[in-house]
Amino acid sequence: MELKELVGLKAAEYIKDGMTVGLGTGSTAYYFVKEIGRRVKEEGLNITGVTTSVQTKELATELGIPLKSVDDVPYIDITIDGADEISEDFQGVKGGGGALLFEKIVADHSKRIIWIVDESKMVKHLGAFPLPVEVITYGSICLFNRFEAKGYNPTFRKNADGSLYLTDAKNFIIDLHIGEITDPKALAEELIHYTGVVEHGLFLDCVDTVLVGTADGVKVLEA
Ligand code: A5P
Repeated sequence: MELKELVGLKAAEYIKDGMTVGLGTGSTAYYFVKEIGRRVKEEGLNITGVTTSVQTKELATELGIPLKSVDDVPYIDITIDGADEISEDFQGVKGGGGALLFEKIVADHSKRIIWIVDESKMVKHLGAFPLPVEVITYGSICLFNRFEAKGYNPTFRKNADGSLYLTDAKNFIIDLHIGEITDPKALAEELIHYTGVVEHGLFLDCVDTVLVGTADGVKVLEA
């Protein structure tokens, strides 16, 4: 079994009847959502899902998982999501799949957050993976130029056909190729204050548990 599937199935064990569950986005979260769908159908698991992207909403709907908007629940008991990089001190980069904004809104509303990753995502310092920054379309070239002047090596995210990628909220993503991020908190603080930046992919001090898929099985790390 693929490591992503292994952690996806393991994460589903944390879900109990009556919970409101944040459903993450990406190729690892996919296995989790599929397993929740199976349990809803075959075991009568009674949960309410809150999705983090249009992609996950479509999958969950197809699987028959009851859904509510984040605006219609008082809180989310637990959110299970993937990540692109997790440092030794449990800070994360997310948004490789473009869903960072909705993922962060759902995360902010969650009592407990579990990230599911294969071992390739565990790193000493963040930064090898490009850092996504979601920006509104108006003025995005001005922002791009400012990032370039700062030495952040920005690139606009594009679709396979070369057109500019649009997020679910109809914004652009500028990926920053900064290299090792020595002070994630200072960078997060800086990025969020550029006018036109909607959100960035640094998820700091938010994860509770990380399930890491390894060749020897799933490792459970408590942050
Ligand atoms: C989606 O925007 C991301 O934050 C994903 O959760 C992250 O990119 C992990 O995706 P994979 O599980 O596909 O690697």
